[in-house]
Amino acid sequence: MKAYRIVPGQDIAGLERVDIEARPLGPREVRVRMRAVSLNFRDLMLVRGWYPSGSNARPVPTSDGAGEVLEVGAAVRRFRPGDRVVTTFFQGWRSGERPAGVSQIALGAHLDGVLAEQVVLDEDGLLAQPATLDFQQAATVPVAGVTAWTALFHHGAARPGDTVLLLGTGGVSVWALQLAKAAGLRVVLTSSSDAKLARARSLGADELINYRDTPQWQDEVLRRTGGRGVDLVLEVGGAGTLDRSVAATRDGGRVALIGVLAGLGQGFDPMPLLLGGKRLEGVLVGSAEHQSELQRFVEQRGIEPVIDREFGFHEVPQAFAYLASGGHFGKVVVRLD
Ligand SMILES: NC(=O)c1ccc[n+]([C@@H]2O[C@H](COP(=O)([O-])OP(=O)(O)OC[C@H]3O[C@@H](n4cnc5c(N)ncnc54)[C@H](OP(=O)(O)O)[C@@H]3O)[C@@H](O)[C@H]2O)c1
Repeated sequence: MKAYRIVPGQDIAGLERVDIEARPLGPREVRVRMRAVSLNFRDLMLVRGWYPSGSNARPVPTSDGAGEVLEVGAAVRRFRPGDRVVTTFFQGWRSGERPAGVSQIALGAHLDGVLAEQVVLDEDGLLAQPATLDFQQAATVPVAGVTAWTALFHHGAARPGDTVLLLGTGGVSVWALQLAKAAGLRVVLTSSSDAKLARARSLGADELINYRDTPQWQDEVLRRTGGRGVDLVLEVGGAGTLDRSVAATRDGGRVALIGVLAGLGQGFDPMPLLLGGKRLEGVLVGSAEHQSELQRFVEQRGIEPVIDREFGFHEVPQAFAYLASGGHFGKVVVRLD
């Protein structure tokens, strides 16, 4: 069975195609024929050696996939051969509070991931695929979709009529745009590209700002919100954008800290957060229950996740290089058919 493993220290060139022996199933395990896998920025960080994989020296990368059940263990109750399933990012965070040491049970780092023709997972690490999505669309749900969902509606407590600020047009932000519009939110979105802003407009974004042309974009966000600021920011930039995001947030508003695209460095000024009574909260994807909520919403609202480009299984290095280029809008997907 073909899979990719990472040879450390070689960047994207270290994505090596290997043969893996299929192993027997445990009683609660499910063998899945993967049909589509989506890439996340985290997967690129792992390939580049910027993300820990613990004792797993040569991990199979990626966490997000959809496929068909081939075989189930004797004690499996929720799935049968032929079912269409989607992975959950954490293998074992079913609901409630985040368990301690949760990063150890995420796919595609400490645990081998899903960039393989077949994977074996516990039945609690899978959900039925949303009925309205195909394999490629479903493969975008576990990280980008769930993170956008929890950041908007759990950490962010967004309600219809609220204004949310989204940064850039990567996987999380475009998912958030689609969810926010379906939930009746007003969206302010930034991008480095006018062409991408036009695509965001066609998905319903209300206010568009080119952050290259307008480096002080927080002032423009304030201007577009009548001086008040937004209710919520989905902060994917990290250290490079956080001060501006806090400045663009209304007093008492929230910043959901998701990513570090614009840097991990120091230098954050806490005073505006303190004086404005604003809340800053870290987001770490979500539980299987969060994913179920999102999947119900997607089915009810007929949301179709935006896939920018699909690659074949033999083109995985090209898919990673494309993600690294930042040229995408929404998600990059690898097909395994
Ligand atoms: N904490 C969590 O649970 C969680 C979950 C998912 C992702 N993340 C993190 O969130 C971040 C985004 O992930 P992703 O998968 O959506 O990434 P992605 O698809 O690779 O997003 C890339 C896009 O981000 C935008 N961007 C880059 N630098 C920016 C900047 N300085 N200001 C504004 N936008 C910028 C660019 O959009 P334009 O081309 O439009 O400018 C770029 O195309 C990553 O750091 C990732 O590790 C965290």
